[in-house]
Amino acid sequence: GVASKGEYRHFMQKEIFEQPAVIAVALEGRLGERTVPAECFGPDAEALFARVKQVHIVACGTSYHAGLVARYWLERYAGIPVQVEVASEYRYRTVVVPEDTLFVTLSQSGETADTLAALRFSREQGYLGSLAICNVPGSSLVRESDLTLMTQAGPEIGVASTKAFTTQLTALMLLTLAMGRVKGLAAETQAEVVAALRALPQLVSRVLKLDGAIEALSTAFAEKHHALFLGRGAHFPIALEGALKLKEISYIHAEAYPAGELKHGPLALVDSEMPVISVAPNDELLDKLKSNLQEVKARGGELFVFADEQVEIMEEEGVRVLLLPHVHEALAPILYTVPLQLLSYHVAVLKGTDVDQPRNLAKSVTVE
Ligand code: AGP
Repeated sequence: GVASKGEYRHFMQKEIFEQPAVIAVALEGRLGERTVPAECFGPDAEALFARVKQVHIVACGTSYHAGLVARYWLERYAGIPVQVEVASEYRYRTVVVPEDTLFVTLSQSGETADTLAALRFSREQGYLGSLAICNVPGSSLVRESDLTLMTQAGPEIGVASTKAFTTQLTALMLLTLAMGRVKGLAAETQAEVVAALRALPQLVSRVLKLDGAIEALSTAFAEKHHALFLGRGAHFPIALEGALKLKEISYIHAEAYPAGELKHGPLALVDSEMPVISVAPNDELLDKLKSNLQEVKARGGELFVFADEQVEIMEEEGVRVLLLPHVHEALAPILYTVPLQLLSYHVAVLKGTDVDQPRNLAKSVTVE
């Protein structure tokens, strides 16, 4: 039937709030007791995964950011070397493909021209096979790939991708665990992350309860022209995604950096007119991130920190802290995406932009 916004003001808002439900759907029937069986990727997946020695991931926009997160995950948990590239670059260069490399595409629509062209180009490059992680059944990408995993997020209407991204990440964690199992990831770690995945929809619901607090923060951005997003490790791509969301729907110029790069240039931009948003989950990089944040504060930058409730980061003059529920570190990138989506959404609403149909953009880019 015709998509409806129901009680929501915009499709984007509705899609943000659907995330607990659609993440649960993306996991349905795919979790074993303590492992992720390769069969969810098709009957031949187990044998194929056993042979994979490298992974190349190709995608555009938000889907590319999901690929960047997957690189951290696959290298850390499955020990597989990964390269990630935007499709429009990949398809026009000489690509060196080591033996036994799996080609992976990520796409909400399955019709993005560059991603599809990259898949077709990959066929002549001697890959082991192709896997598409996609949200639209029967799309070109799905039809033309050897293996597929559907994200099952349901139709996404808002041009700014939200639930498609978090379900892609969910699917990519399934891929990580399925490959990890084949590559000898410790059984205990597999069981831990599987349990954490089961609890994820519930945690995302709790993060959505921050909506009012994030709406209150958004007033600090409405008059600004620039914003800087910081993250480290697997949260650097989450910072990139936060910046993309803000650009797309609020038209505020935003950049993202891995926090350790600040002093190599972008610190020169920081002043009281440049809000800095940081995702600070409770991982081993936290202390380093904290000292990066001090560098921002010392230059009069206004800081907004999304942090784990178990972390000691104090609110003080110029530092606003919003606490998220504690989550297994493997899944933190999924959880920390949500407050950044809400932030962009509320800034865009304050600015009065066309949230669901931002200027100059199309939902799926089917021409080059
Ligand atoms: C995301 O908010 C964008 N509108 C855009 O970057 C999008 O992710 C990109 O065009 C890729 O689309 P796809 O996932 O349908 O291939």
